[in-house]
Amino acid sequence: MANRVVVGAQWGDEGKAKVVDFLTEEADYVIRFQGGANAGHTVEVGDDKYVFHLIPSGLMHPGKVCVIGNGVVLDPAQLLLELGEVNGRGIATEGRLFLAENAQVVFPWHKLMDLLKEKAAGKDAIGTTGRGIGPCYNDKVSRNGIRVLDLLDEKGLREKVSKQTLAANELATRMYAGLHEGKALEADAIFEEYRGFGQRLRPMVADTVVLLNEALRAKQRLLFEGAQGTILDVDHGTYPFVTSSNTVSAAACTGSGVGPTAIQQVIGVVKAYTTRVGNGPFPTEISGEMGERLRKIGGEYGATTGRSRRCGWFDAVVVRRAALVNGLTHLAITKLDVLDTWDSIDICTAYRCEGKSISHFPNSPSVLEKCEPVFETLPGWKQDTSGVTRWEELPRNAQHYLARLSDLVGVPMGLLSLGPKRHQTIELGL
Ligand code: GDP
Ligand code: IMO
Ligand code: MG
Repeated sequence: MANRVVVGAQWGDEGKAKVVDFLTEEADYVIRFQGGANAGHTVEVGDDKYVFHLIPSGLMHPGKVCVIGNGVVLDPAQLLLELGEVNGRGIATEGRLFLAENAQVVFPWHKLMDLLKEKAAGKDAIGTTGRGIGPCYNDKVSRNGIRVLDLLDEKGLREKVSKQTLAANELATRMYAGLHEGKALEADAIFEEYRGFGQRLRPMVADTVVLLNEALRAKQRLLFEGAQGTILDVDHGTYPFVTSSNTVSAAACTGSGVGPTAIQQVIGVVKAYTTRVGNGPFPTEISGEMGERLRKIGGEYGATTGRSRRCGWFDAVVVRRAALVNGLTHLAITKLDVLDTWDSIDICTAYRCEGKSISHFPNSPSVLEKCEPVFETLPGWKQDTSGVTRWEELPRNAQHYLARLSDLVGVPMGLLSLGPKRHQTIELGL
């Protein structure tokens, strides 16, 4: 197998985890490279269902190595919670889960700042997951961050925690006066808690750059698991309604410490329609009863926050942008089965803006605001596809629909998903 990157090509929740779980069979290492516990990645195997926030979705395959790379913002409490759950369900992680020593750590002040900033923004709030993601990346880039390796140095950790707690408390009382109802953060308690986390995580902490590059040299196969989606990317998304990391394929390199020459395939996961959680533009959003129907049939409720996902038709303008910025080699199309009962299905092929047709996703929010989707309507297939195992068995109209999506985006299909379970997947020539 090639070394592969799997990324979301829309606004997240495309079914990346299901695809990663399926492809792990053909990999040796599965690596998360950005984001943090804002991700909610669902894997269903047999009767078991797991929602991973930090642990790579390859974990359900015994013997495969999972790595949380340096580009991830790591919440140790969340990681330990997840580990407890998987271990409790009989899945061994010893010796096969590694954490980058140079990954940034999420602290209570990051979550506090996330919440206060959102509160202060009022109607302009981004609708974050509240997991402290933005503030943690903020500290990383402004060079105040605390990394995994710092958790193992008690003296240094105490000083860093003291300094950061003081700064956060000052910010909370001055800048967010009136919004902060809780108690001040206590440096000693945070230090003790995080020192404990360091001790528990120590056996997993490694120089994962060396680990992964040695794996490459030994011809091991790497599978990189993206989080969020391309249009939530901090550079390429609907800024400022984005997450705080680069979610695109290039981040697999910066977020893990392997060079771009190591990667042969970039798989863009797309839903056969579109969803978005949180605020921000969404040109093909369907309101009212139809949107509700899609939400119900698709089970479109957030895996991290439980919020209702906004639903809409497939937007080829969005996915074309994803094809460009990720260098997509293949599409993995998921949740086709959710459309099984529709009489007809719309696809957005382009936007119309002040009388002109636009085929590229605009960077400017004020231009995007004026864009109206141009729809093409295709007939539905009105047949259950959830048990289909070969392309040839798919209803003709479903084949047409899929071929049209791929054509409009200009990227071949590599994989098709027709249900949440591992076996409900058809490989189409990856
Ligand atoms: P991720 O964040 O991209 O990994 O996606 P999520 O796990 O947040 O959301 C995808 C949801 O769709 C999960 O509940 C999956 O179990 C489910 N799912 C994935 N693929 C399919 C599919 O082909 N059909 C159906 N019906 N559900 C799917
Ligand atoms: P997965 O990996 C969908 C959204 C939030 C909010 C914005 C910023 O499961 O696809 P953040 O907490 O990151 O600062 O929130 O990004 N968001 C996601 N939406 N899926 C995700 O992850 C998301 N992670 C963040 O809803 O709009
Ligand atoms: Mg998700």
